[in-house]
Amino acid sequence: MLLSRVPIAISLIMLATFCIVVHSAEKTDAPSDDVKSFRKSTLLQRFDLDQDGELTSAERKKLHAAFGGIAVPMLPDVTMRYTLRPPNVSEAELRKLDNSPDSNPLTDAGATLGRVLFYDRQLSKNNTIACASCHLQERAFADPKRLSTGFKGGQTGRNAMALFNLRYTVIRGQRPGFFWDERAETLEDQVLMPIQDPVEMGMKLPELVVRLQALPYYQQLFTSAFGTADVTSDRIAKAIAQFMRGMLSFDSKYDRAMAVGNGSFSDDFAAFTPQENLGKSLFIDGVGGIGEIGCALCHIPPTFGMPRAFNNGLDPKYADKGVGARDVPSNDLFTPSNDGKFKSSPLRNIALTAPYMHDGRFKTLEEVIEHYSDGVHPHVNLGLAFAEDAESTRKKTSGFALTREQKSALIAFLNTLTDEKFIADSRFSNPFVRLED
Ligand code: HEC
Ligand code: HEC
Repeated sequence: MLLSRVPIAISLIMLATFCIVVHSAEKTDAPSDDVKSFRKSTLLQRFDLDQDGELTSAERKKLHAAFGGIAVPMLPDVTMRYTLRPPNVSEAELRKLDNSPDSNPLTDAGATLGRVLFYDRQLSKNNTIACASCHLQERAFADPKRLSTGFKGGQTGRNAMALFNLRYTVIRGQRPGFFWDERAETLEDQVLMPIQDPVEMGMKLPELVVRLQALPYYQQLFTSAFGTADVTSDRIAKAIAQFMRGMLSFDSKYDRAMAVGNGSFSDDFAAFTPQENLGKSLFIDGVGGIGEIGCALCHIPPTFGMPRAFNNGLDPKYADKGVGARDVPSNDLFTPSNDGKFKSSPLRNIALTAPYMHDGRFKTLEEVIEHYSDGVHPHVNLGLAFAEDAESTRKKTSGFALTREQKSALIAFLNTLTDEKFIADSRFSNPFVRLED
């Protein structure tokens, strides 16, 4: 009797220990079990036959075939964090900049789903184009091509915009819309536009819902993010918006240099070269220390984003009228209309996002600076920074009339805004197992 009880007691103890281990594992390892089947460890167990931790191209083909010939994502074993606070910017400042709506709080599970959707080519009519086809991580999610190519080979009307810090766009109480012409009021509204755009992805929303419902990996991802497996266009928009709100870039040389100073961006930074400090001063304090003629009047730190669209004098007459093509009243008291007004991406990572401007007309930052120095065309809607100059001279074009030294300094400063970690961060990389190497 006694003998037979001992093993029972031992098994009970073992069972209890097992339960505790499982329980605590659940606690630290936040994601619920349901995304497991597409987790890296599970997929490697099934398909990494030589168990070397990587899939050879033959193994990738097998994986592809096992899922009926479609690409599937390989999800991280431990859910990645998209809700971390960015370093170097104060909590109070971030709160003011935040555009997150109460109806779509950012969660790690939501952003994880959003990441898969962002990279999924099944979101386009003929399964060829994902958001990431035009928004490349190594380019801070801009496109090195002047215009991007859509699902049928057609070209977009404008240059693809860089994507980061889209959570923090409320500048001095103003809420600029998304796109160069601000036509999307919220990020949630924005997401469904490229999907349905006849050039970009060409999809109908009801068709998209049916298609995603049939894909094996979405049931689990939607359940983790929203509690049930239902796929709706509202949830698709919310999840991608969450992913994009999680794409934060606040770790550049500029941020690190400011953090070791006293936190004021007007003082010289000890960690900057004299040239970078001169560039910073021209950018932030303005040429000759006159803030009204500084770049930061429109590209405002700490995000270096714009509070609304402006006209920066690219052309005397605009082929693309920008916000002016939309039926909305002038966005300020000083200009008669919105003709030729555009809202650019924030200038962080600007060294990575060439070509520049809404039509990608400038190939280099040198060309951009030449424009601001001497190439600004007069225009009735010209931003205040240039307006006086344009009125007081009879020249065809005007600008800040920068010296050679000032031009190089501005470029040196713009180069300090690059965040190398952001473009290498696996939280924002392609989760799909690629067939090609
Ligand atoms: C075929 C290329 C292409 C595809 C695919 C594409 N985009 Fe874009 N994206 C662009 C272009 C071009 C613009 C600027 C368009 C404009 O302003 O008229 C843009 C602008 C944006 C903006 C505005 C950024 C800002 O600061 O205002 C966001 C956000 C964005 N895209 C997200 C997405 C998402 C999410 C997807 C997938 C659902 C996607 N894009 C698919 C080309 C593309
Ligand atoms: C009056 C407001 C204003 C001022 C001042 C201003 N900009 Fe701009 N900037 C804009 C607008 C508007 C755009 C987008 C114009 C377009 O595409 O049509 C832009 C675009 C840019 C771009 C390209 C962004 C991209 O993603 O393609 C760069 C780089 C830039 N500005 C740098 C500067 C620098 C450097 C200065 C100071 C020398 C400066 N800006 C001053 C309004 C301004």
